[in-house]
Amino acid sequence: MPRIRLYMAPMKGLTDHLFRSAFADHFGGFDLAVAPFITTKQGHRIKRNYVKDVLPENNTRMPVIPQILSKTAGDFIILANYLYDLGYDTVNWNLGCPYPMVANKKRGSGMLPYTDRIQAFLDRVIPEINGSLSIKMRLGWKENIDIFKLLPVIDPYPLSQIIIHPRTGLQRYEGPVDLDAFEDCLAVTGHTVVYNGDIRTVDDFRRLYQRFDRVHAWMIGRWCIADPFLPGRITTGADIPDKIYRMQLFHDTLFEAYNRVLDGPSHVMNKMKGFWRYFSLPFEDCKKSMKNITKSRLPEQYLERVNLFFETEAKLRKPADIHAQRTRQ
Ligand SMILES: Cc1cc2nc3c(=O)[nH]c(=O)nc-3n(C[C@H](O)[C@H](O)[C@H](O)COP(=O)(O)O)c2cc1C
Repeated sequence: MPRIRLYMAPMKGLTDHLFRSAFADHFGGFDLAVAPFITTKQGHRIKRNYVKDVLPENNTRMPVIPQILSKTAGDFIILANYLYDLGYDTVNWNLGCPYPMVANKKRGSGMLPYTDRIQAFLDRVIPEINGSLSIKMRLGWKENIDIFKLLPVIDPYPLSQIIIHPRTGLQRYEGPVDLDAFEDCLAVTGHTVVYNGDIRTVDDFRRLYQRFDRVHAWMIGRWCIADPFLPGRITTGADIPDKIYRMQLFHDTLFEAYNRVLDGPSHVMNKMKGFWRYFSLPFEDCKKSMKNITKSRLPEQYLERVNLFFETEAKLRKPADIHAQRTRQ
């Protein structure tokens, strides 16, 4: 059986270098992470602080592929070459971001309908960058048709991989992933393909793995925050004891790390509250506890409520319940 390769998905505001390092220390299971996107800056010299999240000294615990969001070839080349100079051999181009502020400006998934622009971008970028390029994309902006026009056009370019999230930009992160369309993509591309989308349990993974044997690697986003044991369970098959306690330790590591770098308690609290949207997913009936946690105003109160949750209230749902919930969505 070929080795299973797992990638941590980029999630802006969540999977930054502090999260990635803490994750590697507490759980492991990933081969690498694609870092959340960095936007290009028109006509600016790149400063180290601008790419802080992907500086090699901040990424000693897990291999990383930096990601760029841009529609302008010249700006992309400058930033990509800066990243190759830092030691990266691959940079990823974001053609998946669904947010209207991005997509309406023909960036991210909003660029997908414009095959000619993508072709012109690659024609200009590929000869001028000092390393390899991968692309993360969706099926289209508003319709799947975009990817089927695009794949034959990008086939001749020397891309290291394409990562496909089989939804449209319009769908954002909701609604079913279109696995039939993903299968059709595999049939028409010669590129190495990474699958991404809705891997929530080991059973989800197994079904995908059995159906798509041509997939090179598997990317997990939201559910590696919700169930950080998932990558390890997929690759080793082993279940881990004391899950809730380990999640608490991970939470505390993150809290301390953000306390060290963020400016003031309210920023730290906001950051941590952002994680709870996903931390809460694997727990049963936790609405009231979540309300208490997200309403806390001072760090002491926040920590007290978090500890109360982990130590007395938290009860993990069974994988079957997670599937049942999805079927109802
Ligand atoms: C809050 C949030 C931030 C995201 N940020 C990025 C990003 O910076 N770059 C990117 O390519 N995808 C981004 N994504 C998309 C994820 O990488 C991934 O494609 C998506 O969550 C589907 O995978 P999942 O079902 O395993 O979560 C983001 C998703 C979310 C929910």
